[in-house]
Amino acid sequence: MVPPTAVIVLAAGEGTRMNSRAVPKVLHGFAGRTLLAHVLAAAAPLAAKQTAVVVGHRREQVVAHLDAVRDLAGPAQPVVQDEQHGTGHAVRIALDAVPAETGGAVLVLPGDAPLLTTATLAALVAEHAATGAAATILSSVVADPTGYGRVLRDAAGAVTRIVEHKDATEAELTVTEIGTSVYVFDHVLLRSALARLSRDNAQGEEYLPDVVGILAGDGQRISAVVAPADETAGVNDRVQLAAAHRLYNTRLLEAHMRAGVTVVDPLTTWVDAEVTIEPDAVLLPSTELTGATTIGAGAMVGPQVTLTDTSVGAGARLDRCVATQAAIGAEVTIGPYAYLRPGTVLADGVHIGTYVELKNADVGEGTKIPHLSYVGDATIGEHTNIGAATVFVNYDGVDKHHTTIGSHARTGADNMFVAPVEVGDGAYTAAGSVITHDVPPGAMGVARAPQRNVARWVLRKRAGTAAAEAATQALGDDDKKDEA
Ligand code: UD1
Ligand code: CA
Repeated sequence: MVPPTAVIVLAAGEGTRMNSRAVPKVLHGFAGRTLLAHVLAAAAPLAAKQTAVVVGHRREQVVAHLDAVRDLAGPAQPVVQDEQHGTGHAVRIALDAVPAETGGAVLVLPGDAPLLTTATLAALVAEHAATGAAATILSSVVADPTGYGRVLRDAAGAVTRIVEHKDATEAELTVTEIGTSVYVFDHVLLRSALARLSRDNAQGEEYLPDVVGILAGDGQRISAVVAPADETAGVNDRVQLAAAHRLYNTRLLEAHMRAGVTVVDPLTTWVDAEVTIEPDAVLLPSTELTGATTIGAGAMVGPQVTLTDTSVGAGARLDRCVATQAAIGAEVTIGPYAYLRPGTVLADGVHIGTYVELKNADVGEGTKIPHLSYVGDATIGEHTNIGAATVFVNYDGVDKHHTTIGSHARTGADNMFVAPVEVGDGAYTAAGSVITHDVPPGAMGVARAPQRNVARWVLRKRAGTAAAEAATQALGDDDKKDEA
């Protein structure tokens, strides 16, 4: 396939039907990418000499985004369309940025078709070259063509023009082959046709689809490639956004399943585009993997797990937990009900149990934090056991401080480690201790008030209660005599 001279992406519209106050339509998205980034990513492998993106509404946001996705989408040059007079007008302005003498093929893409695939775009470009057409359109046959431009063909099946929904006759509205807003044009012929567009139509706009009718009227050949509707669906509102996300997610999960990943319930499993999953991993229902998350071979994730920018080692087992920017080693077990916040690093074989929260915590191999604990700003060595209901007291109200626990330590239940503090290798701490001073290696740290029993307090102060009665029974006759 000869690379196109230029790719032009139309992204100047407001996207009125999204009803969005915050961002223009093309910056909405799913699976970790905006609509615009999906389109650019599909086109990038075609290696066009130049990519121009027509921007208008909230252009600062769109231009900043083009910078942000440069790694994924390649360099793209913004071209400003100050007033949006239609898709034809947008392409006319974009061509100002493409040298007129370059010739070749120009691929035009809408910024709101996130399901387009590289394979289909490459096939379109190849068909254009093979047929020597002036224009090659991508069309789809859809069940409900409402709102789309209809592709009109002559008796011999040749494309004659595209009519917009709002301009179509009753008879034309029954056509179910729609234009997808994806075209390859001969650069020179495109310029000539754009100069002849009129705004004499239902929307008072320069329609890019009219270029097709103009070129056909010139006796030029129009080719068409028909693509499946689930690749060409446009996103104009949030209902279509959700539908496109579902289609995209299904496509991603199918690719993962064919590559050896078990997905128990594809309907409740959501993955982002950048997520990687090794073979023999199992995703259980209601699992959401976002950002740059990676899952190692044979790991079992779910049910009800949400991971963001988190790496999971081979054979790990995650059950009902949330993790963000965490690194989880091989054979680690987590949950049910754990929360791993940014900076959590768990070495191989760590066990994190129920109702445990970690943040900025480095946990050594084989260490266990089984129950009801908060571990913040900590380094814990290998094969240590942290007692139930432990809090790493890291915050003095102004600054955060660090706690270090050594290897093979055994800390008691209900401990407070008031940072900065250090517990040495092989040290123990007593249950209920508030540890404010370092505990040397091998020592037992005890930091709690000694216990005092006030004998027969209940018999005296709560006489006549069930408790006093039970105590009396338990104490027996001897004690009764004592009492008297
Ligand atoms: C367009 C096509 C229609 C096709 C459909 C496929 C036209 C007139 N209609 O309709 O034939 O079936 O896509 O989804 O082309 N834009 C600009 N500048 C403008 C106007 C639009 O950059 O002046 C951009 C928008 O931001 C958007 C894209 O062009 O990304 C398409 O515009 P949109 O309003 O969504 O066109 P549709 O009504 O969907
Ligand atoms: Ca559209």
